Amino acid sequence: MAGAAEVRRRIYVWEFPVRLSHWVNVLAITVLSVTGLYIGTPFLYPVSDTAFTMGWMRFLHLTAGYLFLMMVALRVYWSFAGNKYSNWRVFVPRSKSQVRDLKEVTNYYLFKRSTPPYDEGHTACAAFAYFLLFLIFLFQIFSGFALFNNNSHTAVHFILGGWLARLINIKTIRFWHHMLMYPIWAFVIVHIYLSLLMDSSGKNGLLGSIFGGYKFMAGRG
Ligand code: HEM
Ligand code: HEM
Repeated sequence: MAGAAEVRRRIYVWEFPVRLSHWVNVLAITVLSVTGLYIGTPFLYPVSDTAFTMGWMRFLHLTAGYLFLMMVALRVYWSFAGNKYSNWRVFVPRSKSQVRDLKEVTNYYLFKRSTPPYDEGHTACAAFAYFLLFLIFLFQIFSGFALFNNNSHTAVHFILGGWLARLINIKTIRFWHHMLMYPIWAFVIVHIYLSLLMDSSGKNGLLGSIFGGYKFMAGRG
């Protein structure tokens, strides 16, 4: 009816473990990147001979590394235990409807359609990007613990990554551990831009959903 307020459905999409792992990872990745850059190229000069800057940076890097490991493990667990929106099945487009959604979202990004398709959870495009990002996360964890196992020869650190050093030269691991930080930040720039775009074009409360968990969906389009 003309003039009537549009009715939107309130849907609980992102459960607490999804939101927790998202925001703790944002913090952990920021700390890991700043301290990692320092470890690679120490850019601060000590102000006194008791300053132990490299020690602190390595301590922070490892602490954030353990936090990151726990959050990635939580999210992997939740992709089996959580609701349908966070399930592992959404991350790789295999079904006909996922492939169609991938095409439609791409068409929207290419200005071939004026509104984004109807998606209650991640779009197929976003979900696939997150899948690739998680592969990078796994490599960062294994390579990080491979570097750590170099001077902490414990069974736990060997299981968490030390085995990688048996397959790849440690200098190559260090190089790729550094290099893969850059695609993470390239992702973040595009991710924030697309979150803002999809929030304003979909008018579905997308940005708020990663804080509160709810999206507000209009009819299918
Ligand atoms: C280091 C920075 C960030 C990383 C690595 C990151 C990564 C991710 C990942 C992996 C997901 C999927 C969630 C899941 O299913 O577990 C996600 C979702 C989301 N993130 Fe981020 N994020 C970052 C920063 C941000 C920021 C700063 C914002 C807000 C401006 C944001 C807004 C969102 C939104 C709205 C979603 C849900 C989008 C959807 O339905 O696909 N993210 N993010
Ligand atoms: C997003 C995740 C991560 C990023 C962006 C990151 C970044 C970096 C960077 C840039 C370096 C310096 C490499 C160089 O020498 O040029 C580094 C070193 C290192 N990282 Fe990470 N890292 C991450 C995750 C982890 C994790 C999960 C661990 C496991 C505890 C870890 C452990 C280490 C260790 C042990 C070093 C070498 C420290 C040393 O040589 O004293 N990192 N990291």
